[in-house]
Amino acid sequence: MQDILEQLERKRAAARLGGGPKRIEAQHGKGKLTARERIEALLDEGSFEEWDMFVEHRCTDFGMADNKIPGDGVVTGYGTINGRLVFVFSQDFTVFGGALSEAHAEKICKIMDQAMKVGAPVIGLNDSGGARIQEGVASLGGYAEVFQRNVLASGVIPQISVIMGPCAGGAVYSPAMTDFIFMVKDTSYMFVTGPEVVKTVTHEEVTAEELGGALTHTTRSGVADRAFDNDIEALLMVRRLFNYLPLSNREKPPVRRTGDPIDRCEPSLDTLVPDNPNKPYDMKELILKTVDDGDFFEIQPEYAQNIIVGFARMDGQTVGIVANQPLVLAGCLDIKSSIKAARFVRFCDAFHIPVITFVDVPGFLPGTAQEYGGIIKHGAKLLYAYAEATVPKITVITRKAYGGAYDVMASKHLRGDVNLAWPNAEIAVMGAKGAVEIIFREDKKDPAKLAEREAEYKRRFANPFVAAERGYIDDVILPHETRKRICRSLAMLKDKKLDNPWRKHGNIPL
Ligand code: HXC
Repeated sequence: MQDILEQLERKRAAARLGGGPKRIEAQHGKGKLTARERIEALLDEGSFEEWDMFVEHRCTDFGMADNKIPGDGVVTGYGTINGRLVFVFSQDFTVFGGALSEAHAEKICKIMDQAMKVGAPVIGLNDSGGARIQEGVASLGGYAEVFQRNVLASGVIPQISVIMGPCAGGAVYSPAMTDFIFMVKDTSYMFVTGPEVVKTVTHEEVTAEELGGALTHTTRSGVADRAFDNDIEALLMVRRLFNYLPLSNREKPPVRRTGDPIDRCEPSLDTLVPDNPNKPYDMKELILKTVDDGDFFEIQPEYAQNIIVGFARMDGQTVGIVANQPLVLAGCLDIKSSIKAARFVRFCDAFHIPVITFVDVPGFLPGTAQEYGGIIKHGAKLLYAYAEATVPKITVITRKAYGGAYDVMASKHLRGDVNLAWPNAEIAVMGAKGAVEIIFREDKKDPAKLAEREAEYKRRFANPFVAAERGYIDDVILPHETRKRICRSLAMLKDKKLDNPWRKHGNIPL
């Protein structure tokens, strides 16, 4: 028996060593942790249960029959984050560059299948040279098996990807179908075709970092949600994000008790909005002063900054925040911000997370770039997402709510549950100047008369009461009581039940 135990330990030690000390050193030399070190940093201490440590590839081509490393380039299993179950796979770049073989893919699929059965999230730590070249189509098949599971798991269990090294070619499509993508600055990149192919085909000279580094994807493409300085920071932030989420769509998000009173007043909010309606202010101030303990986890903070989205808690309950940001493009909705917010609202709706919307929107961004780019279709995504969402929806109009954007931003008409407005809110078809220039075109030559018309329009429409008279706004509230009113609304909506009509699926304007 002693022999058997020793043999087992030897096998385990070989698996733990991955590609060997030299390659581990090279990995560290690049500022990267190994696959196992990453799992240790991600999960609660001692909670990891590894599966398939002894799996090996079955390839015999190109001398691979004699080149086997137990585990085959990916560490898989389950553990806990703050005591809550999670499944994880972590690609090991020291083993064949983390390249995905048929067996490697089977290991990932196994934990995904198990996660679906028990209802727990999957976190993928990606660091891979892509398809295992020696295996050819068997590797491509392996990728497709993972993709299929990503799709079936979408909206059932949260899926989080962390890109911690190369992620190229078709391999990018697995993270792309997960709910959140985090990247590590300087050591990770994602692209469908690399710099060499780009040079051959389009004659563009571009580095891997410029083409698909963390900054590119968090500021330009919007593919990734957050970029962090190093592996540890990225993994700790995954833990933070995880704490907001339910384990699956079968349960509600966890509640974290807070000492922050639900009736905490914030007098400074009474002067947040400047007297001049054309002056911007920072919507983040409102968010931070309203949510529990000023704790806000922003998603895509560097992308489409005219809209803010992220997670927070109100009276301990996870909420999704969507807010126009008047500091950027005056808070107008455009293509990128519509897509960003639509995807976020759909995630919240899939996982029972109430959506709180702070509105200060002058309308959709005008211009040929937007129209040619398809703002009609992309703006419709946000409208669609809000309209189909059945989670509690609470809306606070802090200033402007003009035109179609008023309708889109979780208005009463899109089944908003509680729609509130600050007393200075302006809810109308358009701004006073534009409006009178259209309906009183004949007065255009008489500036004094036009100014009088504008003042009259403002008196009549630049306030929340026309909407309130019709019940489109449930109440006009004082800014300093915003937190209290939202917390009470959430308590009232705790057991909200609303179903959409049966259908196979809707046809969101993609
Ligand atoms: C097999 C691979 C591999 C791969 C790397 N390795 N990629 N083995 N299949 N795809 C091996 C290397 O041979 C090397 O082995 C070790 O991993 C480390 O690689 P290096 O090149 O030394 O590392 P580095 O210089 O850091 O470069 C990393 C890299 C480069 C940029 C990822 O290895 C690379 O370009 N690899 C090929 C990437 C690629 O074209 N993949 C296929 C993409 S198509 P030794 O033994 O020397 O340490 C694809 C399709 C997916 O993925 C389709 C899904 C539908």
